[in-house]
Amino acid sequence: MSRMKVAPLGGACGAIISGLDLSSGLDDHAIGSIRQALLRHQVIFLRDQSLTREQHKAFGRKFGPLLVHPQYANLEGHPEILPVLKEAHAHENVGGVWHSDLSNLLTPPLGSILYAKEIPPFGGDTMFANQYLAYETLSDGMKTLLGRMRAYHSSRVLSDRATREDRNATRSTKLRNDIDDDDNVNLHPVVRTHPETGRKSLFIDAPHTIAFENMTEEESAPLLAYLVAHSTMPEFTCRFRWETGSMAFWDNRCLLHYALNDYHGQRRYLERVTIRGTRPD
Ligand code: SIN
Repeated sequence: MSRMKVAPLGGACGAIISGLDLSSGLDDHAIGSIRQALLRHQVIFLRDQSLTREQHKAFGRKFGPLLVHPQYANLEGHPEILPVLKEAHAHENVGGVWHSDLSNLLTPPLGSILYAKEIPPFGGDTMFANQYLAYETLSDGMKTLLGRMRAYHSSRVLSDRATREDRNATRSTKLRNDIDDDDNVNLHPVVRTHPETGRKSLFIDAPHTIAFENMTEEESAPLLAYLVAHSTMPEFTCRFRWETGSMAFWDNRCLLHYALNDYHGQRRYLERVTIRGTRPD
């Protein structure tokens, strides 16, 4: 019998799940309950887990096929696992900007599951912002306008050669050098409908969204800047304090996230699996 409990972490999003040991092989009922908690709270957290890499991947696969990150160097022997590392001497981190994972893909991920291996004694929290709320709090006029718009999402923040060299010089998680420099760009609705909840959310982010359809980047910039600021208002967010053995599972279809880089001189290491998603509509 599962003794799973779900306790909200913040008013906007996030919940802590207790009473579950992910290494024990969960039955379909428990997986269904986790899925429901994810859909309700957008991001869920578990503490004190002890998982092998195979168990981490197997847990992810309960929610869909895993995606191999197309640009970062994945873990040797485990291509589905992305190492999220900042060495003590490094200056920059990975994910230190509000973003949705790989939104440039034609089918951006359903979600990601991040598992903490080594956490500094202070700092290195992750923040999440609820994009249902970001949409619902817009005026009717803005909702109508954005509901008709699409935007280009680009991979150039990671695929441009000069940027890649710069990132690899300052970050511990490395971008692969054997990928081509082509920018992967896809057009997505600015307001998307969640395929499971049916709720509408805003779908833009600063690193990937470069322009609105039929508009130049320059013309797009003011509205994009407004939406980026609006989408990350403190009232839409929650913040998670990591411990070794903690896990976060976020729904990439209706959330942005941000990894705080406030622990210079200390090592932080987590591993992530990413679950494939469907085309936003
Ligand atoms: C990420 O964006 O996946 C990294 C999040 C984190 O390190 O907290």
